[in-house]
Amino acid sequence: MKLYIKTFGCQMNMYDSARMRDSLHVLGYTDTDSPREADVILINTCHIREKASEKLFSEIGRLVQIKKKEALLIVAGCVVQADGEELLKRAHAVDIAVGPQNYHCLPELITRYNRKKGRTLLADFPAESKFDFLPPHQAHAASCFLAIQEGCDHFCSYCVVPYTRGCEYSRPASEILAEAKSLVQTGAKEIMLLGQNVNGWHGDGAKDLGDLIRMIADIDGLQRIRYTTSYPSEMTDNIITAHRDVPKLMPYIHLPIQSGSNRILKAMNRQYTREEYLDIINRFRAVRPDIAISSDFIVGFPGETDADFQETMDIVRQVGYASSFSFKFSARPGTPASIMKNQIPESVKTERLTELQALLLAQQKQFNLDTVGKTLDVLLIEKGKEKGQISGYTPYLQNAHIVGDLSLLGQIVRVKITGATATSLSGEQVK
Ligand code: 5AD
Ligand code: SF4
Repeated sequence: MKLYIKTFGCQMNMYDSARMRDSLHVLGYTDTDSPREADVILINTCHIREKASEKLFSEIGRLVQIKKKEALLIVAGCVVQADGEELLKRAHAVDIAVGPQNYHCLPELITRYNRKKGRTLLADFPAESKFDFLPPHQAHAASCFLAIQEGCDHFCSYCVVPYTRGCEYSRPASEILAEAKSLVQTGAKEIMLLGQNVNGWHGDGAKDLGDLIRMIADIDGLQRIRYTTSYPSEMTDNIITAHRDVPKLMPYIHLPIQSGSNRILKAMNRQYTREEYLDIINRFRAVRPDIAISSDFIVGFPGETDADFQETMDIVRQVGYASSFSFKFSARPGTPASIMKNQIPESVKTERLTELQALLLAQQKQFNLDTVGKTLDVLLIEKGKEKGQISGYTPYLQNAHIVGDLSLLGQIVRVKITGATATSLSGEQVK
């Protein structure tokens, strides 16, 4: 029995797909890259912006054309949580729809499924934690995700996450450590700790994320720790100083600011000002001057004037980002911002995004060029684009490739950086 999984969206979705994959392996399924030969097709969906949601329907259309007639089509993830009934109405080919808090039930839903009796929708917020019912998490690559926290109580006025992922939940430290050990025993060299507000983690067994990182760093064989995504006003000194004290913690912080205008930040219900954000950046740089900083931005939020937008451009110039993600505001049903007055015309959003992305890309390129001539550790994780190449990531999360043997995959090697573009580095292994 063959399983094909297609994942849209964020790293949390990639993590969820990995856990669903493991739980279907227990049922006897093995992976395939070809949806044509699959017996189960699973699409893990994203609802964050309209574009992401719409992609699902074109993907279903494509898969229905080529799939085996009897293959089960399962849709999981945030679209199901947000609007599962509508999804089943609109996409008749979908057999099972399961929300992000229910995927531990997937094996049972599949075993029990009977097409004649009708399709299944399961999207509640159950009292039990799915993590108590999933099989041990196995590493399938040298770099693995580990969800330590899920959901969000911030309710930024544009965001669907509090509705799709539910309220904030921090997993206990003991459970996280056990999962991290299982990942390392099965081959992980790097663990990326995940949460919608990962730096606000407050589970049992450790004081905060800073202490949790220090505990995870004690696991023998684990070489790198990362975490994402952080919320500015929840940053603690204990996390910042971990970047000074814990060699395994990589010098990279993803700290979304969204906008550089205090007026817009307030309308977004973000609980910090640009000044406070800059102060946090300065504190990171004080303990780790080389730290790479990355962010998310939204342009064209309702009411955003040219002057507000220029404040975003200004803060980008002040910070100097190593990488970033930027989006046009998307009015998501059910969020306060979707019905705010002064929605910005699409053409203005496009203009602003183009201007912002040009600056961000130039900064990213400069950051990469500044590493040329240096020797950096690269964790090699996959084949490169060109023949004979293998590629991986520097401590600063830059993609870097070398010419080398596939046997090096999974290892950290010293690489002298010889070339850089805006999106990747090239180099040579230093023995
Ligand atoms: N429109 C545009 N971008 C959004 N994001 C979240 N919601 C929206 C929206 N409605 C962006 C934010 C967030 C990232 C994951 O997605 O920048 O940090
Ligand atoms: Fe969404 Fe804001 Fe929560 Fe991030 S902090 S998940 S943007 S509501």
